[in-house]
Amino acid sequence: VGRVVVTRRLLPGALEPLAGHDVVHHDSHEPLTTEELAAAAASSDALVCQLTDRIDRALLARADHLTVVANVAVGYDNIDVPAATEAGVLVCNTPGVLDETTADLAFALILAACRDLSSAERSLRTGAWDGFRFDRYLGVDVHGATLGIVGYGRIGRAVARRARGFGMTVVHCTRTTTGEPGCLPIDDLLRTADIVSLHVPLSDATRHLIGRRELALMKPTAVLVNTARGPVVDEDALADALDAGQIFAAGLDVYDGEPNVNPRLLASPRTVLAPHIGSATFATRLAMARLACDSAARALNGELPATAINPEVWPTR
Ligand code: NAP
Ligand code: GLV
Repeated sequence: VGRVVVTRRLLPGALEPLAGHDVVHHDSHEPLTTEELAAAAASSDALVCQLTDRIDRALLARADHLTVVANVAVGYDNIDVPAATEAGVLVCNTPGVLDETTADLAFALILAACRDLSSAERSLRTGAWDGFRFDRYLGVDVHGATLGIVGYGRIGRAVARRARGFGMTVVHCTRTTTGEPGCLPIDDLLRTADIVSLHVPLSDATRHLIGRRELALMKPTAVLVNTARGPVVDEDALADALDAGQIFAAGLDVYDGEPNVNPRLLASPRTVLAPHIGSATFATRLAMARLACDSAARALNGELPATAINPEVWPTR
């Protein structure tokens, strides 16, 4: 029996895979403070945490008994994985179970940003709409457009499948060529695409991957969608590009410094903004939570979970 700390509220039924273990659930919407989280890690064999929990070197240094950190998210930029590996702590995430749901949200942002839906709705709700006008609320077409997918992994490919149903041409890029048709260097993708959708993990290599230079390569009619992580985009550069009409619009689900949102992006008439809801359906959030709990339980039971990010720590245990 292992001691498991679940750092934040999940969903009813989520903890079932941990049955038989000594579970301490911080069943609150409020995240633990840095000190509470470090104390929780220091007293547990397993942590089931969320992307709002920072699992850093200082925390890991105090966590003598910790075997596994299971993040209830596929992105794990909140965890210092090299430090975890050095400490012999297994890190797990939730790949696969949220691909289609997150791709649905990316596509919702593509449609909404291309059709200027947030501004149009805001105008109606505030009483500014005075009836049908032929030359108002004009957007750009999604059907038939060229979609550039930056990061062609699980979610990027799920977005590509949707795009084909809209008669779109899909191009993509990754660090190493996929060898598949439509694989372009990123600069060529940015010049070619009518819509650019970001699906890379946040890393040192992807921080500000889309900055001033990259935005300047995009078409003035182009739309940028970010459901990856906020810091992948230089938000000041994006605000400038939108203000200057250098690109047409942006659809964003993620922000640098969440929950703060860059005030210029909040004020821009050409942004569609969602509050980090990419995977937020009942079924998918439950599947994510259960997968993370299942991974923690397997590790505690001596089995290497399939979701392990640093499986190399396992044989040395
Ligand atoms: P994945 O399957 O690992 O795919 C990531 C892709 O990015 C791979 O094709 C990878 O290919 C590529 N890549 C990595 N570094 C790159 C770089 N520097 N330049 C270009 N391409 C690069 O990941 P996923 O499951 O699709 O998830 C992607 C990310 O989406 C997550 O890490 C998370 O941050 C985010 N996410 C957000 C939400 C939300 O709620 N908004 C929900 C789920 C996920 P190579 O390694 O070959 O380059
Ligand atoms: C959500 O952002 C995730 O990475 O799962």
